[in-house]
Amino acid sequence: MLIEQLQKIVGPKGWTTDPVTLKPRLTDWRSVVRGATPIAVSPACTEEVSAVVRACADANVAIVPQGGNTGMCAGAIPDESGTQIILSLARMNKIRAVDAANFSMEVEAGCILENVQNAARNVDRLFALSLGAEGSCQIGGNLSTNAGGINVLRYGTARAQVLGLEAVLADGTVISNLRSLRKDTAGYDLKHLFIGSEGTLGIITAATLKLYPDPGPKTTALVALGSSGDAVRLLAHLRSAMSDSIEAFELVSKYVFDLVEKHIPDTLVPFSTAAPWYVLLEVAGNNNGSLLENVLLEAANSELLLDAIIAKNSAEAERFWRMRHSIAEAERAEGPAQKHDISVPVSRIEDFLQRGDRLLADLVPEAQLLAFGHVGDGNIHYNVALPEGSDDGPRVTEAIYELVEEMGGSFSGEHGIGRSKRQFLSKYRDENEIELMRTLKQAMDPKNILNPGKVF
Ligand code: FAD
Ligand code: MLT
Ligand code: ZN
Repeated sequence: MLIEQLQKIVGPKGWTTDPVTLKPRLTDWRSVVRGATPIAVSPACTEEVSAVVRACADANVAIVPQGGNTGMCAGAIPDESGTQIILSLARMNKIRAVDAANFSMEVEAGCILENVQNAARNVDRLFALSLGAEGSCQIGGNLSTNAGGINVLRYGTARAQVLGLEAVLADGTVISNLRSLRKDTAGYDLKHLFIGSEGTLGIITAATLKLYPDPGPKTTALVALGSSGDAVRLLAHLRSAMSDSIEAFELVSKYVFDLVEKHIPDTLVPFSTAAPWYVLLEVAGNNNGSLLENVLLEAANSELLLDAIIAKNSAEAERFWRMRHSIAEAERAEGPAQKHDISVPVSRIEDFLQRGDRLLADLVPEAQLLAFGHVGDGNIHYNVALPEGSDDGPRVTEAIYELVEEMGGSFSGEHGIGRSKRQFLSKYRDENEIELMRTLKQAMDPKNILNPGKVF
């Protein structure tokens, strides 16, 4: 009965019950988690989303919002009961308006991130969010997970790119504030409830996004380093010398780049001598290329770095970035490691990595560490590949999270909680914070139909 009602709301192009079409939507990008559903619906507009949610609320049926399904915590996958429906935003993919003079644009939630970036570029503007999955993740998914990526150092996370938001609540009510204002102090800023709440408080249907001026010509460099601490010191040095022209500063261990070379065709770390750590960095702006060259030269003279290659042209820069953006794929090809998406204060990255090494050596000496991440954000992907058949996973995770907690960090730096990290939220967040989160959830979704089993 509900199924027919949903089919009617979204029309013949807006649903599927075909098991073959549904299959890729029922497992996460890493193929670690599986779920079941009777139907996936793809509404074409906000009114249809609202009608779908209202029908589900009346029938007490849970809804799992799904964007590009590139999330790393299985937040977009229904549970195994086969009762939860998938609500895909894929058909809501219009760029509604671009206002170059106001440095803003209004987009529907199902727009692919790369299309949003291109629409901004077409009017000489920058949409500052960028990450490896940008060719398939959706802006609604980016906002729901408060995604990070490679440019947070300069521009902030997804949350910082939003001026206005439209969302559908658990009873179908539409909350719409798509104003493109930089200043608006009228009451609570409700958009932040939906950003980063992983589809548990509402379904994002559209957003007004902040744009920046084109930051100018880019210079990309790959740097070989003797230690992770040198990466932190080099970043501080660069920031002092070049202020906020540093767009990206990404750390990658030798082993991680070895995996990229092994699994991703036509990739090669271009140094004649291998180093334990590499940084891929990018600066933007006229004249900043030569400034970067001088700063790197100085850093080499004072033995802060081992070697550096500045990309000669955009093709070489793209080759460097391809290696960085392929890390998740290489890791998946090797056999998904146990992910720890942690953050610590930037000044404590080296200490964390050293203590983490000792901890792993004690717990599982045969474990292989895959460490990489966003140095400027203190966000390290501290992933651990355990020997086949090992049951040390939970012990390792617990020990790493305890270390992170002790260092004033977060067990969930970038990807959210989803289905995979929910058991840790109440352990590592203050009781009063958890209580307030639950109060909000209860008030906004009293029937618990919006992405249940995620976050909490
Ligand atoms: P999905 O995976 O479909 O959904 C993610 C969560 O958001 C789910 O809980 C889902 O229910 C909810 N959701 C989706 N759309 C909506 C909506 N419209 N309204 C309400 N809830 C919704 N992440 C980073 O932060 N930084 C990175 O650098 C990064 N790099 C990546 C690289 C690769 C190769 C891959 C595969 C992933 C990477 N990710 C990264 C993770 C992922 O791409 C991001 O979390 C992304 O923002 C998810 O977008 P999506 O559209 O795929 O969302
Ligand atoms: C990245 O930084 O590449 C992403 O967050 C993806 C990952 O953690 O694998
Ligand atoms: Zn990341």
